[in-house]
Amino acid sequence: MKVIFDTDPGIDDAMALLYLSKLPKVELLGITTVVGNADINGTTRNALFLKERFGISAPVIRGAGETLDGVAKPAADAVHGANGLGDVLLPMIDETTLRPGTASDFIIETLRAHPGEVTIVAVGRMTNLALALRKDPGVAKLANGVVIMGGAFGYKGRLGNVTPAAEANIHGDPVAADEVFGAAWPVVAVGLDVTHEIVLSNDYLAELGRDGGENGQLIADMSAYYARFYGEFLGIDGVVGHDLLAVTYLVHPEWFTTRLGPVRVLTDGIAVGQTIQAVSDRHPAWAGRPAQLVCTDIDAEAVLEHYRTIVTG
Ligand code: BDR
Ligand code: CA
Repeated sequence: MKVIFDTDPGIDDAMALLYLSKLPKVELLGITTVVGNADINGTTRNALFLKERFGISAPVIRGAGETLDGVAKPAADAVHGANGLGDVLLPMIDETTLRPGTASDFIIETLRAHPGEVTIVAVGRMTNLALALRKDPGVAKLANGVVIMGGAFGYKGRLGNVTPAAEANIHGDPVAADEVFGAAWPVVAVGLDVTHEIVLSNDYLAELGRDGGENGQLIADMSAYYARFYGEFLGIDGVVGHDLLAVTYLVHPEWFTTRLGPVRVLTDGIAVGQTIQAVSDRHPAWAGRPAQLVCTDIDAEAVLEHYRTIVTG
């Protein structure tokens, strides 16, 4: 399975990338970066660091540093640390290994080179994907699919994390997200409804550190910062594994319950970034939009077991 990983590393982005890089059926074609958990220089540096550290051969391509709504949002330092990776010490990064060009052009070129074969896993703001669509709308039909970590649809009574209404990746660029949900590619949204079911407890993280070699240890070290945030603000023992679930969906969609219907994103107002799925496209604001899949439930035990097996294997 050919995959482009679009990311804003990010501690859970790093967890997801390690997992993705170890999945035997996945052929990673490129890692595209976007502003989010750090500014674009930070997320790109982090992606280059992780590529090197995890022994990934696919290139890193720098993506959007500004979002389509033109509204700057501060990085979530309290969640991911000032460097985006839980403030673990990073070595000097050789930026000459960065592949020239932009993320959106890379997405276009790659979808055109492998029609029908490439799945985009997007675990940050959806700016690069929307830019690709704006430059070359025809590419939507060439994608095998798009799996995003994003949204909060209220299916398990849970709404936003960054505001009471909105999830961070969607809130970060709601205009881009609305365009991505409205395009002619099949989208699967893995949102807070299901990601909050996956808690990697502090014991579980310690085990990854113990049994997962030096990369398992890196995940455990980065997670210490993340776990402090979850403990202090949400009373959770451990961390929520948001982004890794988009990767799980690629290989085990049967562990997810989904609902089909068109999705809109609120692009202004106090609930900006809210994601709303309709059952049909009869309402004018949803009319003519493609039906997309939203995850409503998950087999948490199976996911946690699989992640442990792959990362420590
Ligand atoms: C999402 O926001 C980011 O901070 C995380 O990496 C994840 O992609 C969760 O809302
Ligand atoms: Ca992310």
